[in-house]
Amino acid sequence: MVNWVDCKIIVMKSVGWIFLLLTVMAVFAQANDKIVIAHRAASGYLMEHNLPSVTLAVAMGSDYIEQDLVMTQDDQVIVLHDPTLDRVTNVAELFPGRERKDGKFYAIDFTLAEIKQLHLKEPYPNSGRFPDNNKNLQLIVPTFKEELELIRGLEKTLHKDIGIYPEIKQPWFHRKEGKDISMAVVKILREYGYKSQDDKIFLQCFDPDELRRIHDELFPVLQMNLKLVQLIDDNNGNETKSLQWGEWINYNYDWITSKSGLRALSAYVAGIGMDKSMLVDKAGNLLLPELVSDAHSLGMVVHPYTFRREKESVPPYVATFEELLEFFYFKVGVDGVFTDYCGDAVVFLQKRVPDSAAEPAVDPAVEGEGREMLPAQPTVAPELPQSPEMPQDVPVDGPGVSPVTAPTVEAAPVPESPVPALTPEPVQVPSPSSLSLPEPGMVPIPAPVSVPEPVIPTTSLPIDVKSQK
Ligand code: G3P
Ligand code: CA
Repeated sequence: MVNWVDCKIIVMKSVGWIFLLLTVMAVFAQANDKIVIAHRAASGYLMEHNLPSVTLAVAMGSDYIEQDLVMTQDDQVIVLHDPTLDRVTNVAELFPGRERKDGKFYAIDFTLAEIKQLHLKEPYPNSGRFPDNNKNLQLIVPTFKEELELIRGLEKTLHKDIGIYPEIKQPWFHRKEGKDISMAVVKILREYGYKSQDDKIFLQCFDPDELRRIHDELFPVLQMNLKLVQLIDDNNGNETKSLQWGEWINYNYDWITSKSGLRALSAYVAGIGMDKSMLVDKAGNLLLPELVSDAHSLGMVVHPYTFRREKESVPPYVATFEELLEFFYFKVGVDGVFTDYCGDAVVFLQKRVPDSAAEPAVDPAVEGEGREMLPAQPTVAPELPQSPEMPQDVPVDGPGVSPVTAPTVEAAPVPESPVPALTPEPVQVPSPSSLSLPEPGMVPIPAPVSVPEPVIPTTSLPIDVKSQK
């Protein structure tokens, strides 16, 4: 016969087990919510921005594939990181004399047919990345449409929803050249079936005014409403400029990371992205300790960039790429990372789940995207050489990539920073009632729709082509 004391013990033990089970389930959910964004496709394994690299990034289980977008002379949208072709193609060899006064070859000065003649080359040839001898491989610059067609096709054959993360590059530059890249990009997205907040896409841009214009003017015209991500640059970069008194002035981003700035953004933006050095200094201290939880409180995700495994790109406060991922995903509490090594990051998150019970994430306030793997677990994630050397002269991009020579130091403790909850303001989102959304899960390839020629709002297009050419 069970007495009262035994009963109490049984009840307490049961409660203990249930508590443990719930904790483990919560940790699983958190790890599963974290996303991997394939930075410029599988750029760490097969060069940046080409169709095979996209396929590889998908096969490796990336949640989102990034596309940097610029325009050609004949108004085609291509997937290329820089407005210039020099860094990743043999343009100088094939088209001598077509450079501008600054010595650079601009994609906007070439037709698509010309750009299609170029071969891609590995921008970091001495880093242990893909060999720079692809003359027979025909790795070429893809158009945005080609990439979307590939991804939509793979969604059908792999029975999964593949995220895309297009970036509209330097709208100010395109505007100066007489082109409206934002309208060109959103029209293509609409044509390929991306319409609503439920679609697996984040549309990113460094230009706050342009994002606002996309949300307020272009989306309503095309009956779309996609998730937007505001990228935050330092104030010295070329990413965003505005024409003031005939001069192109760098944008000042200081307002964005304040609580009021974030609150204003959250009215129309789903997330923010920044160089990881903006969040954590070289000693491993949080520079903006409240930013992630503030963003989460307002319903926004945080996706920093760029995570690379080369020794020189791993900051001194951690020893390895995996430690860096651990630090950002689970100490800083970000929701996803842009990484050249998407396959390694996917494997890291897969392995991390069973080991993670001891250390909960900082702020699980935001529900992220679920991790979806291929029907069979990816077997293509390669055995990579550990921490290949990246030479000192490699033009590593981004304003805050860690210095190469910093010695390994002990990680500094992350300061505790309880954040007072912000009062989320209701986000004004146009009702997508007129849009027919795809069923979640299976994603049919949308038949390309003919998009009505929209009336392009011109109110926020201070084109001053003449003075800048
Ligand atoms: O778009 C996020 C990240 O890719 C920004 O860096 O220069 O590689 O476009 P970048
Ligand atoms: Ca980008």
